[in-house]
Amino acid sequence: MGSRTIAALSLAIAGALAACTNDRAFPADFAFGTAVAGFQVDMGCPTVPAAECEDRHSDWYAYVTSTAAIAKTQTHLAGDQPSSGPGFYELYAADLDRVKELGLDSFRLSLEWSRIFPESTAGIEGYEALKARASPAGLAYYHAIFAAMKARGLKPLVTLHHYTLPSWIHDGRGCTLDLDHCSPRGWLEPSIVGEIAKYAGFAAREFGGEVDRWATLNEPMAVVIPGYLMPTETRTNPPAQLLRYAEAKTALFAMIHAHARMVDAVRENDLIDADADGRATFIGLVYPVAPVLPKDPANPLDQRAAENISYIYNDLFLNAVLKGELDDDLNGKGEVQDDLVGRSDYLGLNYYFKVVVIGAEESFLPAFSPLLTFDPFHLEQGETYPEGLREVLRGLKAKYPSTPVLITENGADAAIAGGPEAFLAAHLRSLLAAIHQDGVDVRGYYWWSLMDNFEWNHGMSLKFGLYAVDPKDATKARVARPTADLLRRVAKERALPPELAGAP
Ligand code: FCB
Repeated sequence: MGSRTIAALSLAIAGALAACTNDRAFPADFAFGTAVAGFQVDMGCPTVPAAECEDRHSDWYAYVTSTAAIAKTQTHLAGDQPSSGPGFYELYAADLDRVKELGLDSFRLSLEWSRIFPESTAGIEGYEALKARASPAGLAYYHAIFAAMKARGLKPLVTLHHYTLPSWIHDGRGCTLDLDHCSPRGWLEPSIVGEIAKYAGFAAREFGGEVDRWATLNEPMAVVIPGYLMPTETRTNPPAQLLRYAEAKTALFAMIHAHARMVDAVRENDLIDADADGRATFIGLVYPVAPVLPKDPANPLDQRAAENISYIYNDLFLNAVLKGELDDDLNGKGEVQDDLVGRSDYLGLNYYFKVVVIGAEESFLPAFSPLLTFDPFHLEQGETYPEGLREVLRGLKAKYPSTPVLITENGADAAIAGGPEAFLAAHLRSLLAAIHQDGVDVRGYYWWSLMDNFEWNHGMSLKFGLYAVDPKDATKARVARPTADLLRRVAKERALPPELAGAP
């Protein structure tokens, strides 16, 4: 070998090494995307009649449109109506143009169970019979969206359940006003696991030729805790009950079993490899893991509280869906159950903030769990903590080493101190450190959200969009925020710009 060849070879090796250690760069097959959910974006069409644009058959629709529910303090409902939403039902094509123009690879959206089945599917079995029961307009809407995504080269990630339930299985108004005498009772109904699995299987068969990436449930604890234990201003969910621990447990276990049965139903019914990558389904759960920290790290009670709350909030559900371990008594001791094992191909991680706890000697609600050894009146949540993303990812790798992660949501309100661009950059730095320095298998990152949308009990007052939408503007025009420019740059260069790189 001549000396010029050796010199060329060593230059090539040095280049390759530099590329490997380039900690600003994302892995070659890393997916960038943005996320929305049906109830939050569909409604508020500029010209399509409200009766078509609005899905009036869900518990959330009943909840936010009920004056009695709005009047009940515990719901913390802002009072905004679905018509104030951004009207994606009508404007989806132009919105997907934006996703494409941003250079993103994927778009996360949810199917609304109630848009597909506005009427009960009880007693109906089999794809053909279910198809006869389904709403043709609902199915046509989703097929049109998937076709529009395919035309733009965008891969869908489809959430099957993003909080909302059809009214035929949950009376969102009645249960909010009187849980003991309402019907039907949503996650408390014995039939719900079977019905949601039936819907998941139907969706998998109907859309399997267009979709490979599925998520079963979005943030189940955000149904259980603000629904049955502690509704707060930060988040409520119908029926927004306080300390209904028996119901909270029922809902929690129903959601664990729902995940497993939905996975079985999707794997059985989606046999088409839509994107020709060698697998017809890639299915998991979307879950918000939050770092739980002791208020005073030197105080053993605070320390124990942080560990206990982290277990209840973060580990309990994930141990069930990622390892098949079910902790029936919520006491920290799970047992493997065969019908839960192997029911996740990945974890969808939503990452927003940290939680800080003050410890207590005893559980404040032992009937729910002996591990609630914290002071519920001084729970701090909501402060951003970018370095926590790396900590969480490291923890997930240690606990669930064979489960790849997609960051399915990360985002901030436009009014956040420092601006959402700084939030985005700081979280990408933390993510890059987890990938390069800790070797965590993270396959993608989705910003919440494409445009300002209906933020649950807050209505349109929180603004998480890459694009601003003014609810009072009849045309629902989209106006790009600086975050859109930064995400575009990152997605196109597949790297964080050099001036933003550095320590998280
Ligand atoms: C998450 C939800 C999402 C959105 C963001 C801000 O908890 O999954 O729908 O509301 O918070």
